[in-house]
Parts: sequence; C-alpha cells; structure tokens
Amino acid sequence: MNATSYKDTWDSRALSAEAAMAAVDGSTDESIVQHTGRWTADQVQAALDIGPEDRVLELGCGVGRIGRELTGRCASWTGVDISENMLRHARERLADRPNAHFHQLNRSKLEMLEDASIDKAYSIAVFCHMDKEDLYLYLQDLHRVVRPGGLIFVETWNLVHPIGWRRWEYEPLVWDGADQKQRKDIARNQFCTPEEFELYVRKAGFQPLANYAESQSVQIVAGRDLDEERMASEHARLERDAARIAYSPLYAEFFGLFVDVIFGKITARQMLEQVDAAAPAEEVDLFRPYLLALWRKNAELWGEPPA
Ligand SMILES: C[S@@+](CC[C@H](N)C(=O)[O-])C[C@H]1O[C@@H](n2cnc3c(N)ncnc32)[C@H](O)[C@@H]1O
Repeated sequence: MNATSYKDTWDSRALSAEAAMAAVDGSTDESIVQHTGRWTADQVQAALDIGPEDRVLELGCGVGRIGRELTGRCASWTGVDISENMLRHARERLADRPNAHFHQLNRSKLEMLEDASIDKAYSIAVFCHMDKEDLYLYLQDLHRVVRPGGLIFVETWNLVHPIGWRRWEYEPLVWDGADQKQRKDIARNQFCTPEEFELYVRKAGFQPLANYAESQSVQIVAGRDLDEERMASEHARLERDAARIAYSPLYAEFFGLFVDVIFGKITARQMLEQVDAAAPAEEVDLFRPYLLALWRKNAELWGEPPA
C-alpha cells in the first residue's frame, strides 16, 4: 500500500468496522474494543482529572474507542480525526451519546474549533503515526483551543525504553522488505526520546507537568497558563495517581510480547503462557481476552486457541 496522505491511508484501513477496530489498537470485535477502551479511558480520566463539567477533546479519535467510555464522565466530548471512514464508524458507535461531537480534519490544524473552547484534550496512539512537523503543528493548535488553566495528555513511542526500542527495531525490517522505489508509508510508526517529545510540548507553549517514560510509550501531561499554586497541586496529584496513568512494567512486557506475536517472532501460545504465569494482575485481565480474540481470528494460521 502506498497511500500518499494521512487521510487516504487511514480511510483505506477503515473500510469496514472490523478493519477500523483492528487499525485503532488491534481489537478484533466490538467486545474487545470496549474492553481496551474502558482501560484507556480510565487512564485518560486519571491523567486529566476529568469531571462532569469538562469539555473534552480527542485528537485522532478513530472509532471512538476511548470516547465511547468517556462521554458519561464529562460535559461534552469532541472527537476529531483525519479519516472520514473512521469518523463514520465512531458516529455509529456513539449514536446514543448526545454529548458527543465530531469533526473531520483536513490538515494538521484544528481550525473548526474556537480559541480556548476546550478544558481537557488528549491524543492516544496518533502522534506515533505522523511526521514530527505535523505533531508540532497539532500541539501548537491544541495550545490555541485549550483554555488557560486547561490540560493535555499526549503520548508517542519511547525510543529509549527497551520495549520501545524493540518495537522500533521492527520498522527498519519493514522498510528493508519494502519496494525501495516507493516513498515510505506516511503513517508508519515514529518514535521520540522523552526529552524530544517534551521539547515539542514545551515549545508549543504548554507547561509539562509529568513525563512518564518507564514503558514503550512517553506519556506527557501538560498545562496551559497555570499559576504556581496550580502547578504545585497538579504535580502532587500526578505523582499520587502515577500508577493509574503510566503504563506499568508488566503492561510494557505484555505489549512487547503482543508485538512479537504480531510480527511472528513468538507464538500466541508462548505469550499466553507468560501472561498466565503473571496472574493475578490487572494487566493479565486486559491482555488475556485481547490475545485470545486475536488468536481466534488467526486460528487458520496459528492453530486453535484454548477453549
Ligand atoms: C491507531 S489509531 C488510534 C485511535 C484512537 N485514538 C484510539 O486510541 O483508539 C490512530 C488514529 O489517528 C488518526 N490519524 C492518523 N493520522 C492523523 C492525522 N495526521 N491527523 C489526524 N488524525 C490522524 C487515524 O485516522 C486513526 O483514527
């Protein structure tokens, strides 16, 4: 596939609801997308301290995996995305949520959103799929639409962490096997160091409050125009709630195994054995059904999963 724009690429990945769910996070069906969506929504809610008065924005909302789980926890939720097809699935999935709003993006700007119209904004698994120039343009425009006193929660792949590096090492392999006359996939995975990502956030005008970097992802919470007192209270809150926001070492380990299964380096059975060996743990409850569903979908190639 050699789509030349973000829109064409993601539209072609979201031709059916099933394909769109697979493209957002590898989910195989509605029950799995809800299962992972609840987990990520809890993480986002903790990072941004989302409450019933908040006007929340998701940049790159996909099928509304996270938004569907957040609409009941905030005043309004707005999902924006470059892909018309993703938004079509999101609108269908959130049809019964009257406080959900959608906009299609045309470029790396949020021109349809008014200045200072958003309290809390987040973007999950999106900045890792674009050029750094676009990431920075979006951060700058997020700074315009988030009100003074508002917060953002953003993440990308962490090049420095061993699991982030393991994920990155698959990228040169993909390119090595590609037609070198074609340009690189515009939506390919891109990586930052924690310092680099924080630099973009800071230069876009935000005040970084937390930079969680002990996993495959760099996750940053930052604020706009916070006074010293607010900065201190946000620091204390984010330190207290870090375990609910940052990916844990066990999450990172399972994520690394999941990627190894997808790229055929280990079998699903080998991963399942490692997951089961770590039980009981929240991460086991997250990854086990996710892995088994993927295994069922690939049963022809991988053999039948356990009952
Ligand atoms: C991996 S999915 C993640 C979706 C959602 N955030 C989630 O976690 O379920 C990436 C999403 O970002 C969107 N996207 C990719 N490039 C984009 C861009 N340049 N501008 C806006 N959205 C983009 C895609 O259409 C897709 O819906």
